[in-house]
Amino acid sequence: MYTVLCTIKFMLKEAAQYLKDQVSFAPETGIILGSGLGGLTKEIDILHIIPYAQIPGFPVSTVEGHSGELVFGYLEGKKVVAMNGRFHYYEGYGMEKVIFPLRVLRLLGLERLIVTNAAGGLNPDFEAGDIMLIEDIISLLPDNPLRGKNPDEFGPRFPDMSEPLDLGWSQKAFELAQSWNMPLRKGVYVGVQGPKLETKSEIRYMRIIGADAVGMSTVPEIIAAHHMGIQVIAFSVITNESIPKVAKEFTHEEVVAVANQAGEKLVKLVKGIV
Ligand code: 6GU
Repeated sequence: MYTVLCTIKFMLKEAAQYLKDQVSFAPETGIILGSGLGGLTKEIDILHIIPYAQIPGFPVSTVEGHSGELVFGYLEGKKVVAMNGRFHYYEGYGMEKVIFPLRVLRLLGLERLIVTNAAGGLNPDFEAGDIMLIEDIISLLPDNPLRGKNPDEFGPRFPDMSEPLDLGWSQKAFELAQSWNMPLRKGVYVGVQGPKLETKSEIRYMRIIGADAVGMSTVPEIIAAHHMGIQVIAFSVITNESIPKVAKEFTHEEVVAVANQAGEKLVKLVKGIV
């Protein structure tokens, strides 16, 4: 375990050094673009685009619709870096790979993070196309990104998780949406391993434990970011009703189509928040 940690620390430093050499730009805010949010990069005054494949130690994304690049630039005058494409546990990466980019960005000085994703709606009030502000998370993942020897320079061994999402910042986002008359749901996101969607009984179970939306990303990233003292805010695009009001199956293609449509609203909100 000790050698593994040393190797990862070395790889993180190497990746950070590579980016410092390439971009000499220290973004304060990171934005993880979930399915359908790729359009946000059009709003950025781009200084640099670095494909993941060029960065030493970076995993390479396997999911369709996730191109895999860091986009550095200004959004509404603020220094940002967008992660266009993320790594999911279900793809087969270990947790250290899933959170690798975030840790690298922390080494570049990241202070704030906006996480987005596409998620299934569990709350019966939710409809496909809704946006949900994530108030809290539940992890049903089989692993935790902080497992193993703690890298003390990033954060404490036993980090507090009573408020993994910054509720002050979230409240401001909520008020901003209200001031625009933009409907915004609030709720709890449960993170699962995937890649399968849920059975009906699993959906009932997830409602009972208090979840409003379910997805296969985001939870490791929020835990790792909060561990490092990064302020985090997060949103889900509800791409489908997990228990549909009209019985139907849905496909990944439908999920992506809804995410693309509703993503436009979220892009506007993210711009306002930054
Ligand atoms: Cl219904 N389930 C999971 N696990 N992830 C999703 C989803 C559902 N819809 C979008 N992502």
